[in-house]
Amino acid sequence: MPFTTDDPNVRQDWLTVGPASRLLHSSAQAPVPTRLLGAPLQLWRDAAGRPQCRVHGRALAVQERYGYLWVCSAATPGRPLFALPEFGEPGRRIVDCGGIGVATSGLRVVENFLDMGHFPYVHTGTLGKVPHTTVAPYSVETDPQTQELWALDCHFYQPQASASAAGGIDAQYRYRVMQPFSAALYKSCPNRPGALDVIALFIQPLDEDHVVAHCLLVLFEEQLGDAELIGFQHMIFGQDKPILESQRPSRLPLEGVLETHMRCDLASVSYRRWLKARGMRFGVYTDVAE
Ligand SMILES: [Fe+2]
Repeated sequence: MPFTTDDPNVRQDWLTVGPASRLLHSSAQAPVPTRLLGAPLQLWRDAAGRPQCRVHGRALAVQERYGYLWVCSAATPGRPLFALPEFGEPGRRIVDCGGIGVATSGLRVVENFLDMGHFPYVHTGTLGKVPHTTVAPYSVETDPQTQELWALDCHFYQPQASASAAGGIDAQYRYRVMQPFSAALYKSCPNRPGALDVIALFIQPLDEDHVVAHCLLVLFEEQLGDAELIGFQHMIFGQDKPILESQRPSRLPLEGVLETHMRCDLASVSYRRWLKARGMRFGVYTDVAE
């Protein structure tokens, strides 16, 4: 088996291998190399324009959605790719922020994405500011139809909630975890009251301890250019990256510590419980894993 795990949570999911634009100049003779779950992949677009994927000469299922390529490493995909209806909504702007390599488990990256408590300390002056450190109560639920995890009614004071924000707002948030390595943030749009921007995080697990974190913006934003929007996201993620890479263990523990978390960590605890209920093993810390 070319892949280093048999965990069905990742083997039967559709996992991203990056934006579809990377296949622009590819062909069967000049494929684009990448990695997924410890295995080397070759990607290209065939003469009919369809994306193709191989691992050690064997074809894998690949599809193009939301501007990204998605690969399923199982012989038969276990479930469809999640829905992201906002991607096709009129008036929205799509901005691919590119991928950032992070030397840690992808589960750590998603858990950090769900955490509002670090905003004033790590993203000082943009997503948070001391003394506005209180995480107000919010609720978490699992959608019975899709099994997706949602954190609802979140809000947090932000001095500069986005690249185009002119002043501080009490930003309204909703978090959604579609699958263990894909999450989205629905956030109040500074210039359009009532509308929600979407910031999606698609993690490409190269292996258990290394990922590429891809960020896709689906916004109602008309003032700023792509470079400013991308620059803002990279600044924010650049603040998270060294902290993520210094966390030990790099794989996410699902045992023991769950009951001692504080109220503000509800989303984190719920994510870990959600992973544990699915029997997640890939990227999870066990005593013999490191
Ligand atoms: Fe952060």
